[in-house]
Amino acid sequence: MSRKLKFGFMLHGVGAGWGDWRHPEAVTDASVNFNFYKEQAQLAENGRFEFLFVADSVHITERSSPHYLNRFEPLTILSALAGATSHIGLVATVTASYAEPFTVARQFASLDHISGGRAGWNVVTSWLDGSARNYGRQEHYAHDVRYRLAAEHLEVVKGLWDSWEDDALVRNKATGQFLDPKKLHRLDHKGEFFSVEGPLNISRSRQGQPVIFQAGASGDGKNFAAGHADAIFFHADTLEEAQTYYRDVKARVRAAGRNPDQVFLLPGIRPIVGRTPEEAERKYEALAALVPIENAIAALARRSTTTIFRSTRWMPRSPNWATWGATASSPPATGSSRWPARTAGPCARWRCGMPGPGAPLWARRSRWPMRSSAGSRTKGPMASISSRRCPTPR
Ligand SMILES: Cc1cc2nc3c(=O)[nH]c(=O)nc-3n(C[C@H](O)[C@H](O)[C@H](O)COP(=O)(O)O)c2cc1C
Repeated sequence: MSRKLKFGFMLHGVGAGWGDWRHPEAVTDASVNFNFYKEQAQLAENGRFEFLFVADSVHITERSSPHYLNRFEPLTILSALAGATSHIGLVATVTASYAEPFTVARQFASLDHISGGRAGWNVVTSWLDGSARNYGRQEHYAHDVRYRLAAEHLEVVKGLWDSWEDDALVRNKATGQFLDPKKLHRLDHKGEFFSVEGPLNISRSRQGQPVIFQAGASGDGKNFAAGHADAIFFHADTLEEAQTYYRDVKARVRAAGRNPDQVFLLPGIRPIVGRTPEEAERKYEALAALVPIENAIAALARRSTTTIFRSTRWMPRSPNWATWGATASSPPATGSSRWPARTAGPCARWRCGMPGPGAPLWARRSRWPMRSSAGSRTKGPMASISSRRCPTPR
């Protein structure tokens, strides 16, 4: 069986790093500029990317990087982009820790209806402590609690997506029957974190069950992804690291009783492309030079609990500042604390993180929908990335 590489495109406004917005070709208000997003989305769709991905978090400080400070809420921008595109997948990040499952189920069902079956949910648990204080809590949930909560949250959301059987809405003008009540089901969920009666107030969407993305790096995270995700983002600094992650997660998928061939693993990359290695290198150095050392340290501080990173004074002036800035300018997408730059291939400079504005659409031409082996979601353009059929509604 021939296999194709599948590429997603991260819509990242002014870019993942601190300095990207200062690039001569950068659009400085890109993170809140609908026309910019629309253009990028259409470029990605025409370039045969499989899906658009919008990352998110729910806490900022004045030291957050420019894109994180001021950006669109993912479901809102993707709903708008659904109307500006026709077949590319639309993957929104929403945190399970600070969003009610009823609301989440309703929002993704709506996006799936609006887009004709292109919705995907990147389920995150939020790693920034400050998120708690934006949602009425003094303390962030502990890491293991977050994953327990996320598992129950997802169970509720999936249950709500099954509230309606496909043909529950009769809409018979002659008889006056709008609904067959036997085909509408309450969930009546009562668990450790959530109590949700249901049913959901929107009918079964095109996919029935929008596609689930995840990016667990810890043991809990990988088990959660292995048990629930159709596609898994990850970050690796080396090929060996990526292979180790791949083998580990695929084994966990098998242990969870699922078919490993039907779960896609998607490493995040940030390619810098030139016609020659030197050109790529020059572009990389130019980007790296845009990041002040203070911002590089702030990037580390945001993830670290070590006080040394709370101050910039400890840092000796060094000719390698540009490299420092470059290596730390991408947001910490995983538990990794190393973000080294390196050369891969004849003319590409890779950094961790995902493509930002201006990221070239160099992907091989591939055709939507993505084809996986048997057992795919049966309806809608996202069918191919699914690991399972639409469950039969109760
Ligand atoms: C490509 C990629 C994208 C991610 N996007 C987000 C995001 O948008 N929001 C978020 O809170 N976390 C995001 N993460 C972080 C993961 O959700 C997860 O917290 C991280 O990989 C650490 O794993 P753990 O939760 O198992 O410790 C992303 C990770 C990767 C690799």
